[in-house]
Amino acid sequence: MRAVLCTGWGEPDRLILAEVPNPPLTPGGIRVDVAAAAVNFADLLMIAGKYQENPPLPFSPGFEVAGTVREVAAGVSGWAVGDRVMGMLPHGGYAEQVVLPADQAFRVPDGLDVVAAAGFPVAYGTAYASLAWRARLRPGEHLLVFGAAGGVGLAAVEIGRMLGATVIAVASGPERLAVAADHGAAHLIDHRTSDVAARVREITGGRGADVILDPVGGDAFEAGLRCIASEGRLVVVGFASGQVGQLSAGVALGRNIDLIGCYWGAYRGADGGRVRGAYDELARWVTSGRLRPHVGARFPLAEAPKALAMLRDRGVAGKIILTME
Ligand SMILES: NC(=O)c1ccc[n+]([C@@H]2O[C@H](COP(=O)([O-])OP(=O)(O)OC[C@H]3O[C@@H](n4cnc5c(N)ncnc54)[C@H](OP(=O)(O)O)[C@@H]3O)[C@@H](O)[C@H]2O)c1
Repeated sequence: MRAVLCTGWGEPDRLILAEVPNPPLTPGGIRVDVAAAAVNFADLLMIAGKYQENPPLPFSPGFEVAGTVREVAAGVSGWAVGDRVMGMLPHGGYAEQVVLPADQAFRVPDGLDVVAAAGFPVAYGTAYASLAWRARLRPGEHLLVFGAAGGVGLAAVEIGRMLGATVIAVASGPERLAVAADHGAAHLIDHRTSDVAARVREITGGRGADVILDPVGGDAFEAGLRCIASEGRLVVVGFASGQVGQLSAGVALGRNIDLIGCYWGAYRGADGGRVRGAYDELARWVTSGRLRPHVGARFPLAEAPKALAMLRDRGVAGKIILTME
């Protein structure tokens, strides 16, 4: 099969397309003919050797795929050859075939095409766990989403609206903000031209945001702390800026605020029933048309370096997907 390989730590242009053996079918696994694989910010970190769990070289990057079931290991129930499947893996998704552990394989929701499905598990899983499980977002609250035109951010805009919040989206430039508006954001802030904290206080009548989702860190984290409501919850999901925010315990105490982390990968395998329940609920929302995963760009597998460079340069809103055709 063909796969994109990282053979040395560095930038996307170091990746190569290679012919490699098909992965062996492992006990409890499902062999998948990959139709599409999503590009994630963490792929950039992993190929640079900066991710929290770096595999040994050489390896294929890629945390999530969608396609059809080709083979099912003995004893695995619930899956048949030809089923539409999506799922997450520790790496290895930029390839024509993968083996997914059955407990991390999920049905592609009816109504979702397989290209959009490839970019669904990580972004929507992370946004759902952050807002529903970790922040316990309630109807009527103000949700501030940084990186709102990015993969996790745009999913959080949609899920936040689904959970009944008024969503304030922060992104760079009117085109990216327009995508956030199209996906349910009620208020838009361009962080390049506006003081985010001042605008949030205006929008919320001085109260501030009840819940903040931060996949960016750095200036975004600082701005969030300047406009979080009393009893607000700031959920940290990532550091796209490369800067990790700091919060003193004294400030958390003095202002009655919660700093919350959310790492979707840590739920993988640890609590399968809970994760499956989340995807079941998300699938119902997709099938009823209330979530509309947005694919901003697609590239053939061989152009993975170009796709990753586009993500790094913030060139597109929504997900960037590699297709195998
Ligand atoms: N905790 C988890 O389980 C989990 C799961 C998935 C992802 N993540 C992490 O969450 C972060 C976002 O992931 P994603 O897939 O949503 O990425 P993405 O699609 O690239 O979105 C990140 C957004 O951050 C903003 N940004 C601000 N400063 C940036 C910079 N210096 N470089 C690049 N982007 C910058 C960009 O928005 P503007 O240009 O509009 O400002 C961009 O849209 C990453 O750190 C990723 O590793 C964590």
